[in-house]
Amino acid sequence: MSFQVTVLPSGRVYSVDDDETLLGAAIRQGIGLPYGCKDGACGSCKSKLVEGNVTHGEHQSKALSADEEAQGFVLTCCARPHTDCTLEARTVPGAGEFPVLKLPSRVLAIDKPAADVAVIKLQLPANQQLQYRAGQYVEFILRDGARRSYSMANAPSRLGTPPAIELHIRHMPGGKFTDHVFGALKEKDILRMEGPFGSFFLREDSDKPIVLLASGTGFAPIKAIIERLQDEGITRPVHLYWGARARADLYLHDWAEQAAAAMPSLTYVPVLSEAKPDDAWTGRTGFVHQVVMTDFPDLSRHQVYACGAPIMVESAQRDFAAQCGLPPEEFYADAFTSEADKHQG
Ligand SMILES: Cc1cc2nc3c(=O)[nH]c(=O)nc-3n(C[C@H](O)[C@H](O)[C@H](O)COP(=O)(O)OP(=O)(O)OC[C@H]3O[C@@H](n4cnc5c(N)ncnc54)[C@H](O)[C@@H]3O)c2cc1C
Ligand code: FES
Repeated sequence: MSFQVTVLPSGRVYSVDDDETLLGAAIRQGIGLPYGCKDGACGSCKSKLVEGNVTHGEHQSKALSADEEAQGFVLTCCARPHTDCTLEARTVPGAGEFPVLKLPSRVLAIDKPAADVAVIKLQLPANQQLQYRAGQYVEFILRDGARRSYSMANAPSRLGTPPAIELHIRHMPGGKFTDHVFGALKEKDILRMEGPFGSFFLREDSDKPIVLLASGTGFAPIKAIIERLQDEGITRPVHLYWGARARADLYLHDWAEQAAAAMPSLTYVPVLSEAKPDDAWTGRTGFVHQVVMTDFPDLSRHQVYACGAPIMVESAQRDFAAQCGLPPEEFYADAFTSEADKHQG
């Protein structure tokens, strides 16, 4: 049995099979709904159900509150329809543009630019071409079927020869996948993955100035977006804020400085929240999103792209809109949610 879903205001119609979520079916058919974690934790897929009935699976209350649910909002990644439905959701041009492929990848190189960060190059198979937008992510499919998401850190134009994607992976001690990455993973290992996924990428139909906001390895998709800006010769003003605890955590600080030196439209502001005496840090300190608010008390004419720790993304989304006048629809984000976030109340 399948149901028809109509998406407003675009008027696009797609079908959802038994046991599929509204989002799963939309991704399969290239409909381009907004989303991030696909797992009820980030809230990026929140949409209004105008007509129809769905069963809502488990999700975080911070992604969708009981109040919002009562008002008819749903998380498309957790909602399974049992009637035809009408959904009010902004479609994201380009989000479903490229085919989602399952493919094996081979570890070409593993570097550790910081104690808890691995930069991994993964060679793509010669017979399958992974197309994606700078900012999107892939999922590794682990042996037990669990999945883990990682954002490409290189723009698709910079895959190199042989073609390889670059990922920045932070070790979460006790984590199913990253314990393996920081333990047994070695060159030539094969990892199964699927992608591209996500609606976090540059909106190129706008000429608004851009704030890029990263914490930790949230820098990965931001780096890919900067490469995209360079490759396309886009000269919109870009302000990059990268937050980390200590200097050593800014694992590609030199890359960011060089990018800013080469791109007159780009400024780079690194921010440390726990600078150590050894860091001899003379730069900005504090919470990275608050530093942005000091520098840009008025964000009403900006676009913001934020990526990394869920707490940073949530704080920025809330405070930029409430205190700096950022239009909510001009905030684009991927929150790096993990099992830890999914098991918080
Ligand atoms: C869209 C997206 C893109 C992402 N991109 C990146 C990226 O580019 N780089 C990056 O570093 N990360 C990224 N992430 C995060 C990444 O997908 C993983 O969540 C992260 O690497 C942890 O994976 P893991 O398997 O090692 O840990 P998990 O197994 O998910 O565990 C994470 C932590 O939670 C703890 N934990 C496990 N189970 C529970 C439980 N039941 N209750 C409480 N605590 C628990 C573990 O001990 C560990 O400390 C992204 C996430 C999303 C959603
Ligand atoms: S809550 Fe649905 S995509 Fe994250």
